[in-house]
Amino acid sequence: MLADVIDVLADPVDGSALEGADDFRRLVSETGHSYDVARQGYVTLAGGAGLKHKGDGPEMVAARETFLGRGHFAPFVESVTDTVEDALEAAGVPEDAHPVICEVGAGTGYYLAHTLDTVAGARGVGIDVSAAAAKHLAKAHPRLGAVVADVWAGMPVRDHSVDVITVLFAPRNPGEFARVLTPGGQAVVLTADPGHLDELREPLGIIGVEEGKVDRLLEQSKGHLEQVGELEHIEFKMDLDQESIASQIGMSPSARHIAPDVLAERISRLPATMTVTAKATVTRLTPVA
Ligand SMILES: C[S@@+](CC[C@H](N)C(=O)[O-])C[C@H]1O[C@@H](n2cnc3c(N)ncnc32)[C@H](O)[C@@H]1O
Repeated sequence: MLADVIDVLADPVDGSALEGADDFRRLVSETGHSYDVARQGYVTLAGGAGLKHKGDGPEMVAARETFLGRGHFAPFVESVTDTVEDALEAAGVPEDAHPVICEVGAGTGYYLAHTLDTVAGARGVGIDVSAAAAKHLAKAHPRLGAVVADVWAGMPVRDHSVDVITVLFAPRNPGEFARVLTPGGQAVVLTADPGHLDELREPLGIIGVEEGKVDRLLEQSKGHLEQVGELEHIEFKMDLDQESIASQIGMSPSARHIAPDVLAERISRLPATMTVTAKATVTRLTPVA
């Protein structure tokens, strides 16, 4: 709930502290700006210009919920949670200090909810620019506060208030990450590797993952964040039926590039079940001293 993380959130206009008003139906800043909490439990924290990006629409969010709910990406979620636990240990933050984990581009909250279940004392802030995603995010876990915001425009989060940031297949803003992380805090970033979902590329006509994603992440982070520890490469096989394949493509950018009837026809020509490779890298970064 937003009340659990109110000390972490900031007014998107001027960065001042927020507090709940009218039984948390609104958040009000020290400087008097007011932000309505949606009936579904999330708050939109956008500055005067509003939100430039929309993020994932309701169909993509529904497809994500279906695919992740079937547990196909369980090795990713387990690995990310283990890495978050390591990062908290490295920063010397015990669970009873109620550490703050902020997921950027949090989608339905599947990953953050799993991490909060494992790190029993932790609190979560889930940020996504998509209101459709935020509706799920707000219900994903009792210790999670859901915020609609555009991470490229800035994070509505207080300076040095977050112990770990997680970013899983989602946009990054290294300057903002360095500002909001505690000095020993870490960003845990999962990026897809070339070869991810390769078995589906040709039959479905979807684009492959380009080379050099991790190099670009490190390049963009220069002056703000530096790598800690080793890269962790994760690779596993998934047995996907046609419904799971349809939801995987439905939650990806390919959904925007292929007409639904064309995609459905291509999927219907696939075998009833296919073994598909999942491949990604976990990179850990910490603010430059
Ligand atoms: C590929 S999805 C990943 C979602 C989630 N991390 C997961 O793996 O299930 C990318 C997410 O980033 C969100 N997003 C895109 N642009 C964003 C932005 N500028 N600020 C915040 N979120 C954004 C999308 O709405 C979407 O939910």
